Amino acid sequence: MFLKLITDHVNSFVSEHEIENLAPFINTNHELLNNKTGPGNNYLGWLDIAKKINSKTLESITNAANKIKSDSDILIVIGIGGSYLGARAVIEMIKSPLYNSINKKNPDIYFAGTNISSSYLSSLLEICKDKDVSINVISKSGSTIEPGIAFRVFREFLEKKYGKEESKSRIYVTTDEHKGKLKELANHNNYQTFPIPDDVGGRFSVLTAVGLLPIAVAGIDIYELLNGAKAAMYDYNNPSVLKNDCYKYAALRNCLYRKNKLIELLVCYEPGLNVFCEWFKQLFGESEGKDQKGIFPSSVSFSTDLHSLGQYIQDGSRILFETVLDIKSTSKDLIIQPEDNDFDGLNFIANKPMSFVNRCALEGTVAAHTKGGVPNIILEIPEINEFNTGYLIFFFEKACAMSGYLLGVNPFDQPGVEFYKKNMFSLLES
Ligand code: PA5
Repeated sequence: MFLKLITDHVNSFVSEHEIENLAPFINTNHELLNNKTGPGNNYLGWLDIAKKINSKTLESITNAANKIKSDSDILIVIGIGGSYLGARAVIEMIKSPLYNSINKKNPDIYFAGTNISSSYLSSLLEICKDKDVSINVISKSGSTIEPGIAFRVFREFLEKKYGKEESKSRIYVTTDEHKGKLKELANHNNYQTFPIPDDVGGRFSVLTAVGLLPIAVAGIDIYELLNGAKAAMYDYNNPSVLKNDCYKYAALRNCLYRKNKLIELLVCYEPGLNVFCEWFKQLFGESEGKDQKGIFPSSVSFSTDLHSLGQYIQDGSRILFETVLDIKSTSKDLIIQPEDNDFDGLNFIANKPMSFVNRCALEGTVAAHTKGGVPNIILEIPEINEFNTGYLIFFFEKACAMSGYLLGVNPFDQPGVEFYKKNMFSLLES
């Protein structure tokens, strides 16, 4: 196993027999997932995408990424929700949250279509002014308003800069294989297209072309990412909750929810994981929050948020539990240097690596929060690399599916999202 589930800090809140009591339900749900007979069974393509993704698709993603790398300073990724979060999460996790600012040979990557802010888009246009730019517009439905607006703006930008013909070779479209307005537009203009499989919903699509093209442009090995997900696919296929950490995590969440722990905080101690936490929030929020039920997924980035939300977590309403992403080893470490006159009184940590201080923060916080009545589930990840990231993605996707079934909801639809859209469109049309 490349991921270790540590339950020491949740055992005093959920006992072993409570997990065992869920075993028959887990078993049934496992069958529903594997036989594709449960709610939302048309959207289970993500379960084996790492194994069955077409080698031709992977080749054309790699070729397109190489072309973008060779002719562009900037790639603008246009998409919202599941159509951008996964790619951004992986890039920041594996490369850096400061990816665009670091010294590198691959293009900068900016995300657009994630809001309806004209000041954001204007600033982005300004950044692109004197640069060579390509765009990857991603929308499964092909009709989402936020990316739709951004695509209009950037298509016009490219056409003005390069002319209609050349701009065509700088537009990459990731959308439904067969239908939708974006697909029609791409066919009409001969834009290169990448398919989003029919049976993979937006928030489960990071390991399709949706995530893989931008990720490859960032110079990340997409084959290793898929290898990690493939390994997790086999490792987490045991129906027994006691032998399958992915199902155990889902069971723990369910037990905690029944004890009024209504909010899950995904905790990280590396800013590189902040967007991964956003991806997690979308995955679980859109999958579980239904029929007036569901854990509210949230996240905190420590130690930053210990100075803002730490008080509440330690001492506020006891409706929280935490899932801590514990990265055991960091690739870059700084040694804290001694100061001759110890002007800040910090010489007691001199000659120690920063990772050691971060670890003490993690261990001290887990102990304090657990004592304060906040159960802590810990996921140990040996280090951040492509393989482990793919593995972690699959872990959460499968845990999410199992959690949804345990809760009695369809984890693969999102009917609630339509309500605001209806109101917005009727206001826009009037
Ligand atoms: O998970 C989902 O299905 C959603 O979050 C979508 O990804 C998001 O709404 C974007 O949809 P689309 O790709 O159709 O533009």
